[in-house]
Amino acid sequence: MRLPLIPLPREVVVTGPKTVLDGKSPVTVTDAPKLPEEAYELTVRNGAAVIAASSDAGVFYADQTLQQLKSVCGGRCSEMVIRDAPELPYRGFLIDSCRHFYGVEEIKRLIDAAAMFKLNRFHWHLTDDQGWRIESKRYPLLTAVGGRRSNSLFGGVNENREHTGFFTQEQIREIVAYCAARCIEVVPEIEMPGHFTAAVAAYPFLGCTGEPMEPEQKEGIFPNVLCVGNDDAVAFVRNVLDEVTELFPGMYIHIGGDEAPRTRWRHCEKCAAKMKRLGLQDFDALQGSFMKEIAAYLKTKGRTAITWNESLKGNMLSPSDAAVQRWMDRKGLCLDFAENGGRLIESDFYHYYFDYPYGMTPLKKTFAYDPFGDCADAVTGVEGALWTEFVRTFDDLCEKLFPRLLAVAERGWSGYPSRSYRDFTYAVHMLLPLLQAAGIPTLPPNRWDPDVRSRVREVPAFFKGSLTPDFFRQALGNIK
Ligand code: ACM
Ligand code: ZN
Repeated sequence: MRLPLIPLPREVVVTGPKTVLDGKSPVTVTDAPKLPEEAYELTVRNGAAVIAASSDAGVFYADQTLQQLKSVCGGRCSEMVIRDAPELPYRGFLIDSCRHFYGVEEIKRLIDAAAMFKLNRFHWHLTDDQGWRIESKRYPLLTAVGGRRSNSLFGGVNENREHTGFFTQEQIREIVAYCAARCIEVVPEIEMPGHFTAAVAAYPFLGCTGEPMEPEQKEGIFPNVLCVGNDDAVAFVRNVLDEVTELFPGMYIHIGGDEAPRTRWRHCEKCAAKMKRLGLQDFDALQGSFMKEIAAYLKTKGRTAITWNESLKGNMLSPSDAAVQRWMDRKGLCLDFAENGGRLIESDFYHYYFDYPYGMTPLKKTFAYDPFGDCADAVTGVEGALWTEFVRTFDDLCEKLFPRLLAVAERGWSGYPSRSYRDFTYAVHMLLPLLQAAGIPTLPPNRWDPDVRSRVREVPAFFKGSLTPDFFRQALGNIK
């Protein structure tokens, strides 16, 4: 039976005629110790629901299924048994709080919506060139200086206003608890050694030059990375991670590791001395050894680091050091990592990046994407990413994320597709009222899969402000 639920449950067996199912239907929960951690069984019979599970997560997911079922069935549904369990243990969504900042209330709304679809990891991107958004008690300038920028010029749009904001430690604890109640683990991301300008602006000794600077105002890749050759700067990072691990109790801590230009390292005596001391041949190895060092530090605290795929370049990270999040791996290094037993989280830029218009990444393209490719056994998770350079309102953020994130939720739970795209979009339509009730505006259905003519219009219009000569100068200059 094809129920319009997302994710589609693994097994649905109709056991009897229609019965009442609404807000007044009694629900009982029974312990089923033999069921796996996130699995559940949901029985609808004689106007009541019975949930069987072995964990809080199983009960929670059964309840999400029940809420969806009630929402789509119009007060009556067939008697049935649903037996369900996820394919992947990591089913995530990324929110970038750095480029445009939205507060606790908005973040909670997104968490509520993600939880409805059984996502279980909130990857919270908290530090970047344009803003540091997590309070540090030890280093208050990270937010006082690194959390403010005097203007925003993303995509050539002059917002003409100061942009500030950060989460206090108290608010972070509140969000972590809010997530835990919804069976979501928060994966904080503290970016290093690149995307580090806001930290260097706050504490200039963290950079190779020691020069003062401000957080960045545009999108891009910037040269003022962490000076990994400076022991004091590396100790600073460890101290920050001490606070981060106190706040976030989950297994994973994301330490970034993407897009780190070598411009400053190339002219830095401290970085050169470190390379010599460690016998490192190139800057890829310098970055790799730094990421390995930080991952090892996290391991002493019982945590597992996640890095973006670029950190594999120096050939320093082994599968026991960290899990790797793949977003754009032109060199195929993730495949080698996977073949050696590494764990991968899939966030393919062309399919799971939702900061771009539907003209570039239509819903159907996200739905059809096979994240398993040549390394199915290594893929431990999928994650949809919402970067916010070009997201200037919360409504726009929601519309970019929903409904595309639902296709990621379906993939992470079901693995290989077990229904057609048509069945999936029918389910999305049926579940829109639940999202609306949660305060989440969604893109109108006629724009989920724009026709070719609209796509040809939409995509260049979106990039128009970014693809300036200045962008190419900056990007190419920095990547060298
Ligand atoms: C990334 O999008 N640079 C991870
Ligand atoms: Zn340096």
